[in-house]
Amino acid sequence: MTKIYGIGENQVKALDDATFSIGQGEFVLIVGSSGSGKSTLLNMIGLLDRPTKGKVFIDGIDTTKLDDNKISSFRNKKLGFIFQFSNLLTDLTVLENVLLPRQIGGTNGSSEKDARELLKSVGLESQLNKRANKISGGQAQRVAIARGLINHPSVVLADEPTGNLDSVTSGIIIQLMKSMAKKLNQTFIIVTHEPEHFGDVDKIITIKDGRALEGNHLREEEIIA
Ligand SMILES: Nc1ncnc2c1ncn2[C@@H]1O[C@H](COP(=O)(O)OP(=O)(O)O)[C@@H](O)[C@H]1O
Ligand SMILES: [Mg+2]
Repeated sequence: MTKIYGIGENQVKALDDATFSIGQGEFVLIVGSSGSGKSTLLNMIGLLDRPTKGKVFIDGIDTTKLDDNKISSFRNKKLGFIFQFSNLLTDLTVLENVLLPRQIGGTNGSSEKDARELLKSVGLESQLNKRANKISGGQAQRVAIARGLINHPSVVLADEPTGNLDSVTSGIIIQLMKSMAKKLNQTFIIVTHEPEHFGDVDKIITIKDGRALEGNHLREEEIIA
């Protein structure tokens, strides 16, 4: 896909025919220098923005053909998001935050049970009723992981999910994402500037000059960077 921001002399070509594919259950990192287009790429896959040219297929569906209403419901059903700043609603409890995507998508009876189970798997069973502004940054990212998984999405997308954490907490959150991915056979696509902390992953996509280079190991320039 290609993404051009702005018009006329102010145009920025953030992605230049970046092409790749990701299989179900894969744990994928997106890397590249600052401003290389990582967030742009994730926003395209996350259906938060549309490519200027090209297509985004998710579960075999050409999402570029969906109108804005269909895109919203598709996004809520099929995609889970984890952001750098957990974006929790601070007036709500931990449990209520995890339940939010379910409520937007239409509730069903087992929602609370699912949320409790997920919160247990991320180690927060004792914090369910705490307000989201009373927990630590690492705990908030655990909540964000549970919230990202609650709708059993096809893909979980994360933009620098450990970018705001100290290195010890960051390592714990990375391992948690990897173990949840394995346990649930869940596809994860993660933008990160610290790929070396992830250990083995299924795929590393390097964005360079707007293009996507696929591999399963770090390129030399990434290790140095
Ligand atoms: N909304 C926008 N409007 C104009 N330019 C943008 C916008 N978002 C990103 N860009 C530009 O696109 C390029 C890629 O940005 P981004 O995807 O945020 O990179 P990264 O996440 O790798 O740091 C940069 O040159 C950035 O300035
Ligand atoms: Mg970015």
